[in-house]
Amino acid sequence: MNNRSNMVKIAVVGGEGIGPEVTAQSQRVLNWFSTKRSVPMTLREAQYGIVPYLKTGKVLPDDTVEAMEESDAILWGATGGPETKEVPPAARKAGSLLGLRSKYDLYANLRPIVAHPALSGSAPLKAHVLEGVDFVIIRELTSGIYFGEPRGIETLADGQRRGFNTEQYTTNQVRRVARSAFELARTRRNKVCSVDKANVLETSVLWREEVIRLHQEEFSDVELTHLYVDNAAMQIVRDPAQFDVMVTGNIFGDILSDCAAMASGSLGMLPSASLGPVDKSGRRKALYEPVHGSAPDIAGKGVANPLGSILSVAMMLRLTMNRPEDADLLEKAVATALSSGARTADIAEPGTKKLSTVEMGDAVLNALGQVTAAEKENA
Ligand code: IPM
Ligand code: MG
Repeated sequence: MNNRSNMVKIAVVGGEGIGPEVTAQSQRVLNWFSTKRSVPMTLREAQYGIVPYLKTGKVLPDDTVEAMEESDAILWGATGGPETKEVPPAARKAGSLLGLRSKYDLYANLRPIVAHPALSGSAPLKAHVLEGVDFVIIRELTSGIYFGEPRGIETLADGQRRGFNTEQYTTNQVRRVARSAFELARTRRNKVCSVDKANVLETSVLWREEVIRLHQEEFSDVELTHLYVDNAAMQIVRDPAQFDVMVTGNIFGDILSDCAAMASGSLGMLPSASLGPVDKSGRRKALYEPVHGSAPDIAGKGVANPLGSILSVAMMLRLTMNRPEDADLLEKAVATALSSGARTADIAEPGTKKLSTVEMGDAVLNALGQVTAAEKENA
């Protein structure tokens, strides 16, 4: 029976651009798991972005803050787009995604990169390069140059302007994200590749020393390698199947994860989880979002690929709800939908049928039904 203690509270925040469209499909998937598999959850929808800004003067209105505050997990859609120019930078900043990452200390950002064989025809890289690609980038998300002080733009005595930011990492910031990487690797193929720029940057020298130290102290059973970030970018395109878990700092992770998206075939397919520290009761705040962003060029047209968001729900089932079998089931259903030919525009080969966002949601729900029926037959 469900009870309060294992009831997972989810704040559903579609946000801007294609966010609400794709999130609506994920919500259908969550409802499926709630009704068909009795996964104990409550969903609370909340608004974010230009819509509440025009009503309340805040991109992140109080009701949304409250929904997030009480939640175990946030299902996030997307932020940004051209219409958001109507929001003054200060109001935007007050409710930004970066602010949320920082507020909830979501330091471990997991971005799995999986190449689905069914999509190799529409992928920009050759099929043999994509064979067996299955790795996770863990990006440090709450420090580094994104948050370092001092920062700003100043005017120099000679009238020129100078922009400046500060890259920084502390021992504990490196160790806690490296620990996430080693722990995750132990559940996979037991390999961690740490990425830095230790041939140039002091922050990276420290990063590498701390990763090596933690490895020696607690994780010497895990295979550890190091790459400079420029080489890592090349290796991700040359031979992405070599990686299992890659761990890196905030800005390197931002850049490498877009690059790695091409090693999965499509940006629209990629999910992510951002995890905070584990508290005394064993819970950790988490935000799940597709990697693709708001895609303003196709927003409102009903053609966006909801699979990045739906696969983020699979991560939520695994990491917040502790339902690994249900997570596997959902990933299997997505693979089944893809191999039976379901394609949104971004992953369709020329001349093939393109599904709408809602139709792709239908395809995943159908596949969930099929996969469960097949499992029951085999049981
Ligand atoms: C990402 C995005 C964000 C980032 C932007 C929207 C601030 O690119 O999540 O990768 O740079 O972290
Ligand atoms: Mg990015």
